[in-house]
Formats: sequence, structure tokens, C-alpha cells
Amino acid sequence: MPTQIIDGKAIAAEIRAEAKVAVAELSKHDIQPCLAVVLVGEDPASKAYVGSKVKACEEIGMKSLKIVHSVDMAEDDLLAQIDELNADASVHGILVQLPLPKHMDEERVTERIDPAKDVDGFHPVNVGKLSIGIDCLTPCTPTGIPEMIVRSGLEMSGKHAVVIGRSNIVGKPMMSLLVQKGHKANCTVTCCHSGTKDLAYHTKQADILIAAIGVPEFVKADMVKEGAIVIDVGINRVEDESAAKGYRLVGDVDYASVEPVASAITPVPGGVGPMTVAMLMGNTVKAAKMINGLPV
Ligand code: GUN
Repeated sequence: MPTQIIDGKAIAAEIRAEAKVAVAELSKHDIQPCLAVVLVGEDPASKAYVGSKVKACEEIGMKSLKIVHSVDMAEDDLLAQIDELNADASVHGILVQLPLPKHMDEERVTERIDPAKDVDGFHPVNVGKLSIGIDCLTPCTPTGIPEMIVRSGLEMSGKHAVVIGRSNIVGKPMMSLLVQKGHKANCTVTCCHSGTKDLAYHTKQADILIAAIGVPEFVKADMVKEGAIVIDVGINRVEDESAAKGYRLVGDVDYASVEPVASAITPVPGGVGPMTVAMLMGNTVKAAKMINGLPV
């Protein structure tokens, strides 16, 4: 059987279309979901991500506030800005783009956001709720992964999922999501990281292998079980003089060698990447509903 290429771009478009319907439904209750995106500094990648988030809001009829501050902004001023957004009843989601400049404490900033508006799902209240299985706002990138798998007609329940990477943004919430009950989870979960001995032994046990390491083309064919579902969370720029921009994007998976071994695989670009913004739209709709006491 040919390997199934999981089309993140198409699935993300489907999820944005669903969010658009939900936004139209909310307008009947006189609610327009609004996402505030805060960017500190001029990092080109962060600027591009923020741009794509604002564009997605426009596309689905959601309001957005793009708030840009200079890189030397004082942390206290950012905290005051968050307080203002927390108190603003017309704002339902608050996202502070990471990474922040070095003089700021990301933990303190993250904890200042009202958990009800924490559409990144990074606040310790939401992290705690996720870990004990209470419905809450969950991090966008890992939340999109079961969506991609299930919407591609693939089973998750009972599978052994191996996550490579233990970041707070992807690896750890991914484990919490995969271990929940329900058809978009119910996996046996292993987490591998830089302290793991004999990494390939573990990755070769995976029915679902999720790579979130941040190292270009790290996962090779001899680390993957025949027929595994391979999800590549990495987006890495590698120099390529033949490309117009002087670089190309590759994932954490060596796609060319792994694709023939896998039963299904996400490409880079066009895999996990577009899902993150789509899930952010879904989270903002969810926050708006929960804040207004509507069913989610
Ligand atoms: N920087 C990289 N990924 C993310 C994300 O998911 N949310 C925020 N706020 N910043 C990021």
C-alpha cells in the first residue's frame, strides 16, 4: 500500500471553516470572539507567525487585536498590558508570542494571563486541568495532532504512541492529551528525550511516532517501525543555495528515507504547521463560549 500523506493544509482549512460557522452562530448571541496577539520585538519568524494568526482571524470573521511593542519594553509594562486585556470583556483570547526578549520572565508573563483567556493553554491552571482530564484550553500544536490523525481516517485508541521531545509547548502536553480516554487518544504513551538511552529501541516500538525535537531530519528510517504513523512537528530552516530564499524548510524527520517505511506521514511544510493556527481559532471560539456560559 502506498504511504498516506496526511494533508495538514486541507485539514486545517476544514477546521477554520468549522470555526467560521461557530463564529456566525455566536453572532446570534451578540458575541464576536476576539483574539489579542501581543508581539514584543522584531523577530522575523515571530512576526510571520503573528501575521498568519491575524489573517486567520479575518478569514473566519473573528476580531483580532495585534499589539506590537519594542524589544526593550519593560516587563512591568507588558504585565500591565495583560491586566488590561484580562479586564476587557470584549477580548476572549490572549496570546503573547514566544520567545520573549531575554530580560523578561516567560513564566511570570504566562501566569499573568487569565486562564479563561489563555488560548495557548500554557497557564499552570490549564496545564493542571489537562493533566487530570478536565475540559480546558489546551496547547494548539499538540491538540491539532489527534485531529489530523483521526480526520485522516486513522485509529488512535490502543496504539503505542512515542513522543520525542519534552517541551512545555509540545512534548509534555502531547503526552497528557494522548493518555486521555476517548477515540482521539487512549494511547499507551512513551516520552523520549535527550536523557533517553537507546532512543531507536523506543522509537521502533511506536505505532504513532511524534517528533518534536527541533533537530533537522533527526529521525531516520532505521528508527521507525514498518507501518508506523509518523507525525513531524519540526520546522527547521536549512541552508540551500539552490532555493530562491537561500534556505528550505525541513522537519525533524528525514522524510525521504522514512516515508517508504511509514503507513502515514505528515509532510513539512503542509503538515502540522497549518494546524497550529487553525487550532488557535478553535480555542478562541471555545474561550468565547466558555466565558459566556455556552456549551462547547
Ligand atoms: N512560539 C512558538 N510557538 C508558539 C505558540 O504556540 N504560542 C506562542 N504564544 N508562542 C509560540
